[in-house]
Amino acid sequence: MEENHFISKKATPIPWTTHWEAPSNIALIKYWGKTAPQIPKNPSLSFTLSSSVTQTQVVFEPTSPGAFDFNFYFEGVAKPDFKPKLQTLFKRIGSYIPWIQGYQLTIKSHNTFPHSSGIASSASAMAALAMCLMDLEQKLVPDLEPEFFHQKASFLARLGSGSAARSIQGPVTLWGVNKMQDRSSNLYAIPFGPDLHPVFSTYQDAILLVDKGTKAVSSSQGHQLMHQHPFASQRFLQAAANLEALVPVMKAGDLEAFIKIVELEALSLHAMMMTSNPYFILMKPQTLSIIEKIWEFRASTSIPVCFTLDAGANVHILYPQDFKIQVNAFIQDELAVFCQKGQYLLDQVGEGAKKV
Ligand code: DP6
Repeated sequence: MEENHFISKKATPIPWTTHWEAPSNIALIKYWGKTAPQIPKNPSLSFTLSSSVTQTQVVFEPTSPGAFDFNFYFEGVAKPDFKPKLQTLFKRIGSYIPWIQGYQLTIKSHNTFPHSSGIASSASAMAALAMCLMDLEQKLVPDLEPEFFHQKASFLARLGSGSAARSIQGPVTLWGVNKMQDRSSNLYAIPFGPDLHPVFSTYQDAILLVDKGTKAVSSSQGHQLMHQHPFASQRFLQAAANLEALVPVMKAGDLEAFIKIVELEALSLHAMMMTSNPYFILMKPQTLSIIEKIWEFRASTSIPVCFTLDAGANVHILYPQDFKIQVNAFIQDELAVFCQKGQYLLDQVGEGAKKV
């Protein structure tokens, strides 16, 4: 499908207020490396989360014809520092939503997860804003098909932050052309579909907050470093192969095979960071201590618990709902000690963005 499929018509501005929430997501197959405009070098697959969400209200006020501006408030406070990232988004998406000309926007946003927890909020934030934009587009251009509505929301979110494309729907989404899904696209994410084994639609994700500080190297810089990376082409092939292996495993509910692929992906992502030029390490000693403890616990109990990592030191612990009591007790008793101020968040797989 071509980008121009998503170009909407102009429309007369109307006053409109809308409020949406969108969740964060955690990738099992990692997106790390891209070309302009936000086209991934390999397909990725993620769990959509449930309680870690951004809630965004947008007030659209008609202003002078052809004019466009916005104000942004985060947790009730005006945040001019966030303006450049949003300006980049509006520049990238302007031609797809030409009806935006003639509006003044007031965007108010807050997260349900703790501020500066190290959880990537750009995915949930860009997805929530994309849903607010699509909400007005649906009003201005009636009869949008639900599938188009979600695909275009994912397309707009992707242009704000790549991983945000995967935060529109749930419980598992795929972004990027791949052999497993004929309808897959580099332009937007699509749901895994009805073949997903039910164990994964209630999977648990405990996010262990190891380091809440600002990361030494941002995701944007990390993606850039993949351009000259000596192992980049092999990594993109590996990710595509891991996705092809993971899809049947997630249809079958084969947890042993799931664990092997998911942990391999997490460590491969960090291996790319450690072998970039300049090299960097985002894991902390506690990250490794947690991983070792998980491996010991899994070996001694046979409970199918595993970990993944995003671009930071925090550890996401993944496990089936049936083992929630045992794993949550293990986290509290043996892993909380490795977290900053003992903090961790218990979340689970969810259904995607919702109107508030
Ligand atoms: C390691 O989506 O944050 O979390 O497109 O530059 O905004 P931009 O990058 P971003 O990268 C996410 C990297 C990751 C892996 C993933 O979520 O797939």
